[in-house]
Amino acid sequence: MSEEKKKITIAIDGYSSCGKSTLAKALAHTLQYVFVDSGAMYRCICLFALRNGFVSNGMVDKQALIERLPEITLSFHKNPETGDQAILLNNEDVSMLIRSFEISQSVSQIATIKEVRQKLVHQQQLLGQKGGIVMDGRDIGTVVFPHAELKLFLTASIEVRTQRRFDEMFNKGQEVAFETVKQNLLERDRIDSTREESPLRQAEDAIVIDNSNLTPDGQLKQALELVKEAIHQQLA
Ligand code: DC
Repeated sequence: MSEEKKKITIAIDGYSSCGKSTLAKALAHTLQYVFVDSGAMYRCICLFALRNGFVSNGMVDKQALIERLPEITLSFHKNPETGDQAILLNNEDVSMLIRSFEISQSVSQIATIKEVRQKLVHQQQLLGQKGGIVMDGRDIGTVVFPHAELKLFLTASIEVRTQRRFDEMFNKGQEVAFETVKQNLLERDRIDSTREESPLRQAEDAIVIDNSNLTPDGQLKQALELVKEAIHQQLA
């Protein structure tokens, strides 16, 4: 098989606001692969929990949510107008709603629930069955696709990550203080890396990219080189 035709699985993990989805989307676009933002799936479950009153004062009624999990279906579709990928929660496009600060504040707690993770990991593995996929998240290289041919672990300084997230929110009209954004990122990183169920950690065979001083294009270029090498190794 030629190098152009061989399709691999690419797992991208890292801390919050490290540019994982930006890179995953650009790679998928360039390589004509499927792109899956697994964080969006956790955010959908969080939205469902909030809407059903299972989150109050920052505490999640885990049992109530677990009982209702079978009612939740998540699907993806391409917005024909923008070409962007939309995520549907029980057939409703919630792509914009899941980006609220309210969701960002509770989602890490939702992601600690074993039953939630089992449900989503199962769906993620089905999506990746045929290869030719770029998925980003926290446990993609360690749990979802432990045999991925290419694993990237992205990192950037907390100041850079805060600025990126702050700008993103500001551009969407969400005005949250810089320090509040920073504390939210640090708290999510803490919960994500210390939880019992599949904590965020770098897979042993992952390649680290610190993108603090890289442009999205520079980062894409580096990653494409690594894809080329990974495919070459498969065919060797
Ligand atoms: O990438 P994000 O900020 O949209 O992720 C939302 C939350 O979901 C974040 O707290 C980490 C969690 N998450 C996870 O535990 N496992 C994944 N594969 C993806 C996200």
